[in-house]
Amino acid sequence: MYSEKVMDHFMNPRNVGEIEGANGVGEVGNAQCGDIMRIYLKIDENEVVKDVGFMTYGCGAAIATSSMATELVKGKTVDEALKLSNAAVMEALDGLPPAKVHCSVLAEEAIKAAIDDYKSKK
Ligand code: FES
Repeated sequence: MYSEKVMDHFMNPRNVGEIEGANGVGEVGNAQCGDIMRIYLKIDENEVVKDVGFMTYGCGAAIATSSMATELVKGKTVDEALKLSNAAVMEALDGLPPAKVHCSVLAEEAIKAAIDDYKSKK
């Protein structure tokens, strides 16, 4: 039921872990399934995402979408990263089963929450 890309990002997630010196941290959760996602961003003076990490307590799709979302925002500007949609995350993973679409929404929200945190601290 999962694409090869989802399985790959689930089995070998990229950018796992907390980032030292992160200046944007966002945590979101889904009350229904109880999954939690935390994103760490290190944004430089040119507003470019230099480093990104995640910690996710959740299902396989939550881990795969966190992993893919971190890959998609790495090296992007804050404004570009803000435009990351759950649809883009799903597309990059070659799709998700309907019951797992909300996992990609969580990934989008976690990136946005981390950027909000960065902006509020500026
Ligand atoms: Fe809720 Fe995956 S089942 S985030």
